[in-house]
Amino acid sequence: MMNVANRIHLNQTDSTNTYLKELLMSGVELPELTLVDTESQTKGRGQAGNSWESRDGENLTFSWLCHPTFISADNQFVLSQVVALAVRGALSEFVDDVTIKWPNDIYWKDKKTCGILIECTLAGASVKDCIMGVGVNVNQKKFYSDAPNPVSLAQIVGLTFNREVVLEKLTDKFNYYYEMLKSGKTSEIIAEYKNNLYRKTGFYDYCEPDGDPFCAEYVDVLKSGHLVLKDDKGLTREYEIKEVKFII
Ligand code: BTN
Repeated sequence: MMNVANRIHLNQTDSTNTYLKELLMSGVELPELTLVDTESQTKGRGQAGNSWESRDGENLTFSWLCHPTFISADNQFVLSQVVALAVRGALSEFVDDVTIKWPNDIYWKDKKTCGILIECTLAGASVKDCIMGVGVNVNQKKFYSDAPNPVSLAQIVGLTFNREVVLEKLTDKFNYYYEMLKSGKTSEIIAEYKNNLYRKTGFYDYCEPDGDPFCAEYVDVLKSGHLVLKDDKGLTREYEIKEVKFII
């Protein structure tokens, strides 16, 4: 049994994030923890205006809606951390070596197995509605777009997965971390997020927005969501989301 207040399963939609956004804009009241999932997205959206590739009926493409009005706007990155931890935790029950690539991609080794697109609306200084869109590569065997290094659970394990079982595990984990957030355990969430980061230790290659490559190690992720790196000359560099590229 899916552990959500309300589930809307669609055969096809443009994007589960867009579907929820339009329902909210039309004034429909949707309960905390509404799940919208679909077999097929015609305009699946990724971060930074990219599209999201997913073959019909093979993967998981869904959005969770919640109303975290107890989170202030300047603290909203913790919502990203909650979703990333939930997905990492759930996928770790099926495969090993799952980490969070800052800010919220989910990686298996050096490959991307899941992308997350979070869209929040604010009311004054607080968050009002939060749409958390998740695309997990589950059973797709071949990727056609120019998305860098995609991988599916089926490619990793060599088996076809029951998507409903994976979705149920994801939703259970989301409930777990969202309850943690509601009970004020923010510092535990942040610590667990940091502890599960991709490239948490050691020096790796990165690239500045202007294309300038450099070698650096991870230092911290700030409350704002900014990533702090220290390069091999000892210089500390701070990045906003999508400002730095990981060279993989
Ligand atoms: C990324 O670029 O990594 C984020 C991808 C997010 C894709 C998911 S699929 C379900 C939800 N609906 C969308 O249109 N996008 C998200």
